[in-house]
Amino acid sequence: MRRVADMFKPLSRPAEMIHDISVLTLLICGVIFVIVTALLVYVVIRFRQRPDDDGHEPPQIYGSTHIELAWTIIPILITVVLILVTSRTIGEIQNRQMPEDALKIRVVGHQWWWEVHYPGLGIITANEIHVPVSDRDPEKARPTHIVLQSADVIHSFWVPQLAGKTDLVPNKDNEIWIDPYEVGVYFGNCAEYCGTQHANMLLRVIVDTPENFQKWVDNQKAAPPRPQTPLEIEGERLFFANSCVSCHKVDRTVSQGVFGPDLTKLMTRQTIGAGVAPLNHDTLRAWVKNPQDLKVDCYMPDMQLLPKEVDAITAFLETLK
Ligand code: CUA
Repeated sequence: MRRVADMFKPLSRPAEMIHDISVLTLLICGVIFVIVTALLVYVVIRFRQRPDDDGHEPPQIYGSTHIELAWTIIPILITVVLILVTSRTIGEIQNRQMPEDALKIRVVGHQWWWEVHYPGLGIITANEIHVPVSDRDPEKARPTHIVLQSADVIHSFWVPQLAGKTDLVPNKDNEIWIDPYEVGVYFGNCAEYCGTQHANMLLRVIVDTPENFQKWVDNQKAAPPRPQTPLEIEGERLFFANSCVSCHKVDRTVSQGVFGPDLTKLMTRQTIGAGVAPLNHDTLRAWVKNPQDLKVDCYMPDMQLLPKEVDAITAFLETLK
């Protein structure tokens, strides 16, 4: 569940550019480290205490214009080089013009989950972002443009293999773009402390082939099948009779809450509770029974449901696919 993405294997243009300057910075700092350490080791050995020391202080030297100029000018030059290279990369990433037909996504950070909108497609989901694969060749690239917003406090969107960290700030839109080169699942997380469950604010970017992405889109837009079994039907009744509807949205129903994740296609997702557990019957049932067991302090309270109500609501939720 909790995979740490390897930031030394960038698989998207912005991540690649950041990786390149990180390597350059690391190299420069590495060279400085080796020189300083070598000098230190030399001095420690060369001037160590010996049995025949006469106990006098060595000659005291006050000031040397040449040495002082050298250790002032060289670090300034190194810092200027790093500033210039970094600003150029930041500029290149931020000023990149998105093609007209780029996929647009809006991600809203919440304590402690991610709301994901596809405004052009009419899709809302949570914690898992599907995007089509792009290409290393800039001519064939299909970048995805992401607008970042926050519903409460500052969060930070970070999928190390795809792009650098960008904060989600209340009342301010930040923007990033990604163009993943390979199909697969990319792990990310919130990178700005945002409260008790900050560590369980996980994120997945699922990169599909264009065909599979289209299939995912079609499925997300299709209505989920109607509840069939008596348990599912009872679960649906209970879902709408309880306060589930005031926080959650199930499209095409009266359930239009916006405080919690959209549940219209809940069962198409891989995880529950923003990555706190894999999504399956047992974890879903445990969540409905008492979300606080899985995710302490999350904003969904223990609804004090009876075991048979938990079974019915779980059965209803499992039809949402
Ligand atoms: Cu959201 Cu940390």
